[in-house]
Amino acid sequence: MSGDPERELPSAVQQDPARLLPEHASPASEGVTTRYPPHHPARAPRHSAKWLAAILGVVAVYAIGMAIHDRWQEREYHAALAARMTGGDPSRGPALLRSFGCAQCHTIPGVTGARGQVGPPLTGIANRVYIAGVVTNTPENIVRWIVDPKAVDSLTAMPVVGVSETQARDIAAYLYTLR
Ligand code: HEC
Repeated sequence: MSGDPERELPSAVQQDPARLLPEHASPASEGVTTRYPPHHPARAPRHSAKWLAAILGVVAVYAIGMAIHDRWQEREYHAALAARMTGGDPSRGPALLRSFGCAQCHTIPGVTGARGQVGPPLTGIANRVYIAGVVTNTPENIVRWIVDPKAVDSLTAMPVVGVSETQARDIAAYLYTLR
């Protein structure tokens, strides 16, 4: 069995122990070393990139959640403030604004189909200084205006539509959420 490498190796090493040193490694033994899984230097960074993406994802979701929560809190706050100022319920506003035809003449954010162009848009009405340019924008004045605009300004083109004071307070409460 002279061709058996297992038997040949010891004697070859005995004759020349330097053969074991790496510089004597034969192409065959080089082939053996490549049997080990090759080391991926790119693997570690790719791993941390995944972690980074995951962390950024969590942070983004948290930030969006906080923003939605803040926005919701702000709306709640403005609704509560508007209710306190007018003594009305802002949640009843949109239905009343539609049923009394306000939406036919005014563009009103948050009210479906309210794209009227006859009167001024009621966007940001809570921050307006005057109502129809004639009286200061106070809760009592806006309620008075909604009930009887002609009593506030006899020349106004806005009609009296038959809103009760209670309904006017609900409408005003909603309008005061429009900032
Ligand atoms: C036929 C159209 C018409 C209808 C219906 C109508 N408005 Fe008006 N509205 C006007 C016009 C025109 C003005 C502008 C009046 C002016 O400047 O004299 C006005 C002004 C206003 C203003 C003051 C806006 C500002 O910028 O100062 C408010 C508030 C308002 N309307 C609310 C309502 C509400 C609430 C209803 C329903 C209950 C309603 N309007 C129904 C035509 C209408």
